[in-house]
Amino acid sequence: MQLYGNIEVDAVSTCRHADSLKSTDSESWPFSVRRVQPTIGAEIGGIDLRDPLTDDLYLALRRALVKFKVLFFRNQNITPAQHVAVARRFGELEIHPVIPHHPDHPELCVFGRKDGKPGRENLYHSDVSWREIPSMGSMLRCVTCPEVGGDTMWINMVAAYENLPEDVKQLIGKLQAVHDGLPVFSQGLNAEQVEGYRKKYPPMIHRVVRTHPESGEKILYVNEGFTTHLANFTTVKPYRFGSDFKMAEMDLLQYLFRQAAAPEYQVRLHWQPDTIAFWDNRSTQHYAVQDYYPAERQMMRATIVGDRVF
Ligand code: SIN
Repeated sequence: MQLYGNIEVDAVSTCRHADSLKSTDSESWPFSVRRVQPTIGAEIGGIDLRDPLTDDLYLALRRALVKFKVLFFRNQNITPAQHVAVARRFGELEIHPVIPHHPDHPELCVFGRKDGKPGRENLYHSDVSWREIPSMGSMLRCVTCPEVGGDTMWINMVAAYENLPEDVKQLIGKLQAVHDGLPVFSQGLNAEQVEGYRKKYPPMIHRVVRTHPESGEKILYVNEGFTTHLANFTTVKPYRFGSDFKMAEMDLLQYLFRQAAAPEYQVRLHWQPDTIAFWDNRSTQHYAVQDYYPAERQMMRATIVGDRVF
């Protein structure tokens, strides 16, 4: 039994798979597909991402992305320009306001740990959920990585939603949450930069349960990285106003955050140079494990602009 506020719910004992994965084995693809975990992740073979994608390949990859939620490609020795080109096939690319960019390709964020500082991506998050229109997906390529460590984990947030107890689904169905990048990105910014960021990127309100624009699946859409609080939490439970009420709200939010940490919804990738991961940022969260410091790890990420949350 788990508790939040004074509401009791049964702990998840069996993970039901997301509906979208059920017909997987009978489906045919114009590339090889090896599922990595029952709920999420597939390794794709027989594709060279240096070549422009034909319409058929593009459509099949998009279908595979929605179904498996994160796709892994090994041995893709592509240039930054080819990385930008293949990502752009899936939509407009965004330029991140804070993360450092590749000098010739501002669409590529560079996550580099050569500076003697540990990485900071080790929290469950969905990229740029603080934007008015959060991203559709990201393509992350490994440039260098340690032989051991520095893995990334992705989480199927459709399965996380599906497996919630019915009373929790009822409770959160109409809730909205506030997403804000500032608590994460203000580290390292001076006061003027913080003010500039705040003007350009005010906190954004999104539904706690969003609908996938392509599959129609329901998604639990709060993440510990960027979701700061619930916007319209009310309860008929006998809380006093004031601290009890706030505690009940935070208990509920923490309970929802914790769903991402269930191994049943996760896949974990061990990187090699030239491995590419392409994830659906609408239906997943991810977490970069920071267990390799002070070894070097450098990644480049292209992020595709998505859809308004509904
Ligand atoms: C990210 O959070 O997008 C980066 C993940 C990683 O470096 O593995």
